[in-house]
Amino acid sequence: MGLFSKVPTAPKDPILAFAAIFEADPRPHKVNLTIGVYRDRNLKTPILASVKQAERLVAEREMQKGYLPIEGDHRFLELAAELLVGTTLFTEIKHRVALLQAPGGTGTLRVAAEMLVSLGWKRCLIPNYTWVNHRGVFQASGGEVATYPYYDITKHALDFEGLINSLRQESVGTVVVLQASCHNPTGCDPSIEQWKEIATICQERKLIPLFDSAYFGFGKGEEDAAAPRHFLKLGLPVVLAASFSKSFSVYGERVGLLLLAGENPDEAAALLSQAKRVARTLYSNPPMHGAALVRTVLDEPALRKLWWQELTEMRERLGSMRRQLVAKLPSQFAHMARALGMLVFTGLSPEQTRELIKKHAIYLTEDGRLSLVGLNEENLARVAEAICEVAK
Ligand SMILES: Cc1ncc(COP(=O)(O)O)c(C=O)c1O
Repeated sequence: MGLFSKVPTAPKDPILAFAAIFEADPRPHKVNLTIGVYRDRNLKTPILASVKQAERLVAEREMQKGYLPIEGDHRFLELAAELLVGTTLFTEIKHRVALLQAPGGTGTLRVAAEMLVSLGWKRCLIPNYTWVNHRGVFQASGGEVATYPYYDITKHALDFEGLINSLRQESVGTVVVLQASCHNPTGCDPSIEQWKEIATICQERKLIPLFDSAYFGFGKGEEDAAAPRHFLKLGLPVVLAASFSKSFSVYGERVGLLLLAGENPDEAAALLSQAKRVARTLYSNPPMHGAALVRTVLDEPALRKLWWQELTEMRERLGSMRRQLVAKLPSQFAHMARALGMLVFTGLSPEQTRELIKKHAIYLTEDGRLSLVGLNEENLARVAEAICEVAK
């Protein structure tokens, strides 16, 4: 018997598992509403024209393919941080932040989690509905993961009371994972007033806010960074883990930014040294190409303008699909109109989502999460009819 014969099969990622089942479904009218990767009206994931043009420039200009420094491409770091933080604020806080490029949002979160846990900040709170990988990433890093109330499924709204009461119970150094915008899976974000209250509690209780920003530009545009910007303005210790996968449609290129804000340059330098220590043992140094694309788009005014237009178009397509879908559904789905981003919680039960798959070849995850990227003018009416039928 071979050494590996007793290796058990690991459980599948629930969302990725759906992709395989969907692929195998022979029904031609099948609709995939499970995926968190943007698709255009032809249901294809685009390479943005701005990114394609940047790629040509990168190919012409790059002179070597040596390793990047552990912290990544310095010009990328500066431009990416400036984009998320805003130029004025970034100038103000630059001296007290550490920046590190990491492989995608996931790699960035993992560096942040490993670093925090290794420095003794083990307790980590994640929202009670959240991206499936949050728990895994923090647990794999040795974190002790608990949840805080986030979404009230019966009211189809943020459970703000629950959220703030829960954070008020926490003590110094608890890491609180907050999704900066377009909350995955609910599409429900706190208002700016609510963010301000959350910031005050983090300040009073000395919690460590860890922003996961994966959908910049997909909710309201520039405003999608309002929450981390507010925390940074207050001078709180902030960890920001940003993914550029969706905003630049460069999923497979693995582009992420970790921003660590301390109180002064010494803290920033110590934080950077710690993040580099973690990165060194995980992947040594980050991939070059995706960061070069994002850097080039942001550095060339014409490409930056084009990219912003393309991001706006992606956001508007999702908004249009959401409005058209809600208009065809009964009032029990009215809350979906308030959602932001690619994803929305329908409130359908696991049985109802199973029926959608079985009877109508319409795939939603069992928690009732619907990804608007799978909708287009051709399938929207049929999806709406099927939802009405299973919801009766
Ligand atoms: C909330 C959230 N965080 C992080 C990620 C991971 O981003 P990346 O694909 O860049 O690793 C995702 C991806 O769907 C996400 O939804």
